[in-house]
Amino acid sequence: MGKDTLTIIDNRTGRTYEVPIFYGTYPKYGAAIRATDLRQIKVDEDDFGLMSYDPAFLNTASTRSRITFIDGERGILRYRGYPIEVLAERSTYLEVAYLLLHGELPTRSQLESWTHEIMHHTFIHESIKKFLDGFHYDAHPMGMLIGTVGALSTFYPEAKHIHDPAVRRRQIVRLIAKMPTIAAFAYRHSRGLPYVYPDNELSYTGNFLNMLFKTTELKYKPNPVLERALDVLFILHADHEQNCSTNVMRSIGSSHVDPYSAVAGAAAALYGPLHGGANEQVLRMLQEIGSKDRVPAYIRRVKAGEVLLMGFGHRVYKNYDPRAKIIKQVAYEVFEVTGTNPLLEIALELERIALEDEYFVTRRLYPNVDFYSGLIYQAMGFPVEMFPVLFAIPRTSGWLAHWEEMLQDPEQKISRPRQIYDGPDVRDYVPLEEREVRAPA
Ligand code: SDX
Repeated sequence: MGKDTLTIIDNRTGRTYEVPIFYGTYPKYGAAIRATDLRQIKVDEDDFGLMSYDPAFLNTASTRSRITFIDGERGILRYRGYPIEVLAERSTYLEVAYLLLHGELPTRSQLESWTHEIMHHTFIHESIKKFLDGFHYDAHPMGMLIGTVGALSTFYPEAKHIHDPAVRRRQIVRLIAKMPTIAAFAYRHSRGLPYVYPDNELSYTGNFLNMLFKTTELKYKPNPVLERALDVLFILHADHEQNCSTNVMRSIGSSHVDPYSAVAGAAAALYGPLHGGANEQVLRMLQEIGSKDRVPAYIRRVKAGEVLLMGFGHRVYKNYDPRAKIIKQVAYEVFEVTGTNPLLEIALELERIALEDEYFVTRRLYPNVDFYSGLIYQAMGFPVEMFPVLFAIPRTSGWLAHWEEMLQDPEQKISRPRQIYDGPDVRDYVPLEEREVRAPA
């Protein structure tokens, strides 16, 4: 093979440029040129220089990262090199959170102290209940979570000192520990139920189920199958490289704001129906379809471009999302305990048709992580509004891992993309009295 450079001939001037091609650790997955190397390509000295134009970042690497690896063509997902299938089978969410943040699986003593640290920061300040109570009874729990997480920054002013590793660590532990508590309190508020305080003798997911569903029993005993299923779902949702919300976390964090404010912003991005709000939309879609025999009519509407097949498609996976395969297995284990979800039959028929229909095959649309997760959450007793919240809780460890990686990356600085301006050229101010006679723009 020849030199690792790109030779560019600018036909406007006849000039030739040679820019270096550089590689990530795995050349097959990461060959790139620096976009700033294009700025030298000009037609004259007044020229700003060439930029790369990439709306929605379809082919732009914003960072180098060592956290998560995805091969969309082959449906591969690995956290710090460990295949998601192995982690889902053999690990726990807290162990995976440690792996994402530290880069290595913890030793027994490291895991024990990490678990103790997390489970002893699950309480939230009593004042937080006051503004949770201020939300309307029908406030969406995701809106409550976003507002409350942002407000946490006012309880921990030290969090601004983001260059101090010990300060960062305390906020990371607090955020991972308190997300389930805030989520559960938001759920209990929306149901008009009293808040249930954390029980630190339970596991991370067992305590979450306790804070959500405990009623009059003295000590809540989580169903072990549901507790494990939720832990696996949390593992699957913990990170996904430069997805929309993680990109937001890195961008907000690049201004050096505290991590609570950055997580609130990332959660807001995740709330969107095209991202973390998709499993809520999947359930609404299945409920709208209503029965298996009405699936063909809905597919026709999708193909006519009237509606999206929610839970299908992915920016990166052009093959089956490996998480969807695992979630489908978890679904059957949960339904053994809860009874099957009547909407499952509709979902299976949608998948069967979509996987053989030319419209979806040519567009390489496969079920993604959201297609089956909603069915499980609904069967476990979660209301549809809680689904994006159940995504935000585990993704917090991924957001924080990327946040720390960004802060420690010597190449990173405040995120500030360029643009191509298409607006009006300079023009004179028009006095108010003269405007009425002008035709609207
Ligand atoms: C997540 O990035 C991540 O990693 C996200 C995530 C994570 O873990 O963080 O994996 C979680 O967000 C999963 C995605 C959840 N969203 C949904 O399920 C919503 C439905 N999906 C679509 O909105 C869409 O597939 C996206 C948003 C997921 C991807 O959007 P893209 O990259 O624009 O899709 P594409 O370019 O691959 O689309 C190719 C074609 C287009 O049609 P044409 O214009 O070429 O005719 O397929 C069409 C799209 O319109 N298409 C769909 C479709 N998704 C894409 N048509 C019908 N139904 C769909 N779901």
